[in-house]
Amino acid sequence: MSPVTPNDLNNTLRAHHPAALRLLSPLGLRSALPFGIPQQAAEASGCVRKATIGQITTGEGEPLGIPSLARHFPTLDPRDSLLYVPQYGMARLRTRWADHIRAPMSAPMSAPMSNPVVTTGITHAISICGELFTAADRPLIVPLPYWDNYDTIVTMRTEAPIRTFDFFDGPPAPKGERQPRFNVAGLRAILRTLTGPATLLLNFPANPTGYAPLADEVEGDDGIVAAILAHPHPLAVICDDAYEGLFFGDGMYGRSVFGALSAAADPERHLICKVDGATKELVFFGGRVGFLTFSADGAAGEALAEKAAALIRSTVSNGCAPSQAAVLDALDSPTLAQEQQQVMDVLQHRYTALKSSLDAYDLRYYPFNAGCFCLLPLAEGMDAEHLRHRLIREQSVGVIQVPQVNALRVAFCSIEAEDIPDLVQRIARILRP
Ligand SMILES: Cc1ncc(COP(=O)(O)O)c(C=O)c1O
Repeated sequence: MSPVTPNDLNNTLRAHHPAALRLLSPLGLRSALPFGIPQQAAEASGCVRKATIGQITTGEGEPLGIPSLARHFPTLDPRDSLLYVPQYGMARLRTRWADHIRAPMSAPMSAPMSNPVVTTGITHAISICGELFTAADRPLIVPLPYWDNYDTIVTMRTEAPIRTFDFFDGPPAPKGERQPRFNVAGLRAILRTLTGPATLLLNFPANPTGYAPLADEVEGDDGIVAAILAHPHPLAVICDDAYEGLFFGDGMYGRSVFGALSAAADPERHLICKVDGATKELVFFGGRVGFLTFSADGAAGEALAEKAAALIRSTVSNGCAPSQAAVLDALDSPTLAQEQQQVMDVLQHRYTALKSSLDAYDLRYYPFNAGCFCLLPLAEGMDAEHLRHRLIREQSVGVIQVPQVNALRVAFCSIEAEDIPDLVQRIARILRP
């Protein structure tokens, strides 16, 4: 096996996905897996005596597990729980997650799609995209407000400036009046200002707004998909689908925009990246199992997956085996859908309780229909950080300040439905004294 060089991968992309090549940062251009120990070990996998990789095993490759530790994974094959997984992640899990993405609610069968690369949580998948595509002269475009960790994940590491447009097309209106919608005009306007390679990040259901677009905000000539596909310059689009599936409102598009975008993206101009994972979809926050999937199949998809795997090799080497094995097992469970529905029912109940309590106390809120949060705008002159402290001190309520739009974020996903009226009453004492 001869080593694949960064140039080989870049030439593959030049031939099969020119947009991806034009979008790569200097680090992205340099990324390739070296012909190192895992590759040499894989080549020798059929040998009688395998003296390659530094794992402590029997001659047959069974881990010499320490019982005090191994006993915590009684239902997993010790080879799956105690040994290294490949840089790309467990092979069976990658295929299984691809099926999960292809399921009717997510990506149409016609959309080109790489085999997902398993990452150490969704944050890690975003970080890899940041490293592959952003740089000081390659901005990240996000709707405002946005999850503030994007600053840390992307800008702190790659120096890419974050450029924003307003998430909503107006302020929250009193009940009964037209409520703001996703600001497609703002998206079009900011895209018009770009002339070189850039990255757009869309997070639906969104943190911190708790909003996912309605069908007519995504589809049609005036929708999000058309706005992106019309962009004439190289654009990477990251679909941050961390909260995929948590849809509560009416008239919603109700699935990731990755499918529609990747089905129609022009490989001369656009590369669509999907980041998602077990964190919220399988309520496995501590497991750190995320995925990164590109809108490219065949050789281009493999080249991009290798670039991602090279960044994994250069940071954490490879992911967490027992977590990946547990997620694979859960995906194959015949009762999974029913168990997920039970969680959804709990969240739907909390969502409904929160909406009616906010209305009952006449508190203003941005439209929210999905995910885990709602966002309460503050009147002019009210300071989010000051009010957050007062809520802790005077009402024993913890919320998160969102200074980007002077608002407070309430995570209804962690409050029992019966406690929500009390939560809102306490908030109202401070916001509407
Ligand atoms: C919008 C968004 N994306 C990504 C993540 C990160 O997920 P993970 O915990 O898997 O890194 C979060 C977590 O809060 C999030 O809110």
